[in-house]
Amino acid sequence: METVIGIVVVLHLLGMASIAAGWLANYLGAARGLDVLVWGARVQFVLGLVLVGLVQANKEEVSWAKLGTKIVVALAVVGCAEIANARARKGQGQPALTNAAFGLMLLNVCVAVLWSTPEA
Ligand code: HEM
Repeated sequence: METVIGIVVVLHLLGMASIAAGWLANYLGAARGLDVLVWGARVQFVLGLVLVGLVQANKEEVSWAKLGTKIVVALAVVGCAEIANARARKGQGQPALTNAAFGLMLLNVCVAVLWSTPEA
């Protein structure tokens, strides 16, 4: 189980990297950058929930305050990315929304790493 959790954490980190890479590519004007950002945000959210299930199945304690905060912030990341994507399809550029998605992703990294609890 430890190995499975480790593999999903690696995928979770790659999801985070996809959000950052998608934001940067979009910022630099790459045509598919926003797609990478949106899919990274979706995958990151789902993998986070999968991780919670695995950690609990492994009988490890979880901090619901920390995880609840991460869920709310991650939902905001997905929301900003989805709205930016929908508007981009209509030809409306949305730098504020993509920047917000990136900033909120950084906030969630800080929550994940700096919010230390005795549990997960
Ligand atoms: C933008 C969204 C997210 C980002 C950037 C993010 C970032 C990270 C990072 C950097 C880690 C590894 C560091 C650490 O273990 O402390 C991590 C672990 C973890 N994340 Fe996220 N996360 C996001 C969303 C979520 C969501 C929505 C959940 C679900 C509640 C979640 C659940 C977890 C769990 C359970 C772990 C730790 C697994 C373990 O016990 O090692 N994450 N996350």
